[in-house]
Amino acid sequence: MNFKLEKIGINTEERYECIYTTIDENGNKNSAAIGLKYFGKDNIGCRIFEGSKTLENIQKTKRYVANITQDPLIFTRSTIGKLPDEYYTDDKDIAILKDAGSYIIVNVVDIEEQKPENTPMDNNQSIFLIKGKIEDITINDESIKAFNRGLYGVIECLVNFSRYQIVDDEKRAEYMERVTENNRIIQRIGNSKTKEAMQIIKKEYEKN
Ligand SMILES: Cc1cc2nc3c(=O)[nH]c(=O)nc-3n(C[C@H](O)[C@H](O)[C@H](O)COP(=O)(O)O)c2cc1C
Repeated sequence: MNFKLEKIGINTEERYECIYTTIDENGNKNSAAIGLKYFGKDNIGCRIFEGSKTLENIQKTKRYVANITQDPLIFTRSTIGKLPDEYYTDDKDIAILKDAGSYIIVNVVDIEEQKPENTPMDNNQSIFLIKGKIEDITINDESIKAFNRGLYGVIECLVNFSRYQIVDDEKRAEYMERVTENNRIIQRIGNSKTKEAMQIIKKEYEKN
């Protein structure tokens, strides 16, 4: 089946930050911010570090919901502490965010354990590559697009660059580190424009 993910800003080039909602065997709902990659047709992928509740629930139920939102409080409350129950719909057998612009129900078809590469994690924690098939998509509000953080990295580097000549050496070193980190992230999750922008920015920083 072909799903119209482009309507909610999703293409096969970038990676998006979503809120994954899952449910455990006792019906307890859980939410977490997790990246989403679309591979075309009904194919979706994500990578989840071991130790998370989301991974545990997905391993047991083989199902999750990727909610599309740009709400900073939902991202924060899903990452720090627990998202209160009132954020979810009343459904008993599935966890869905009430105010999601849209949501994608995914059935998991494969879970593969890997050792992480090219991440700043210094322990040997496994990461699980989770492949899924879209079961259904509900679009409540087409104007809420899936969130890609590439542009934010570019803007941060540009704002810092505009101050680069007037700050002290310590701050300059800090800005340079941010360029390196943003460039690392954008190579993984960005589109061709944000990648090109970072190349230009990096060259300019290196000149100055
Ligand atoms: C924007 C954002 C994106 C994230 N993406 C991922 C990801 O793709 N994979 C992952 O394992 N953790 C990711 N995390 C970290 C998890 O959200 C975090 O470990 C969370 O506490 C897991 O919650 P849980 O134990 O309730 O599942 C991300 C965090 C944020 C803020």
